[in-house]
Amino acid sequence: MDGEKGSYLVLHGPNLNLLGKREVEIYGNLSLEELNGLLHTEAEKLGVKLDCYQSNSEGDLLDRIHGAVGNYQGIIINPGAFTHYSIALRDALAGVDIPAVEVHLSNIYAREEFRRRSVIAPVVQGQISGFGPQSYFLALRALVYFCGR
Ligand code: DQA
Repeated sequence: MDGEKGSYLVLHGPNLNLLGKREVEIYGNLSLEELNGLLHTEAEKLGVKLDCYQSNSEGDLLDRIHGAVGNYQGIIINPGAFTHYSIALRDALAGVDIPAVEVHLSNIYAREEFRRRSVIAPVVQGQISGFGPQSYFLALRALVYFCGR
């Protein structure tokens, strides 16, 4: 189903509200608010509308994904730790017909063994991992080129 033309949704998963304060050597100094601000600027440049949402709760993220049907053309999601084990999140993304990009600030393949597996990756259009905040900007560009404005 086609979502609203030129509308994109960014979902930030658990602990990403702590950006800028949490393990800054891995995740950097930028706060979530600053990241969202930069994403909105980037969206404006690309001529698309963007909504950003963060939750620490799996159920909230599932509801947002379900609610995206008919409202968004694409989803950018950083599932945080849910990346590695949430079959519910995977099923939600697989169950809605909306192209999604999985993003990570850090390179999950260069870290602990348990982070090297993503249960989300097989059901999204693609994954961008390891470029800090740029991971999100690259994902937004890729989705807009892929889905249109
Ligand atoms: C993360 C990587 C995950 O392994 C971790 O649990 C996070 C952040 C990232 O953006 O690098 O919370 O998704």
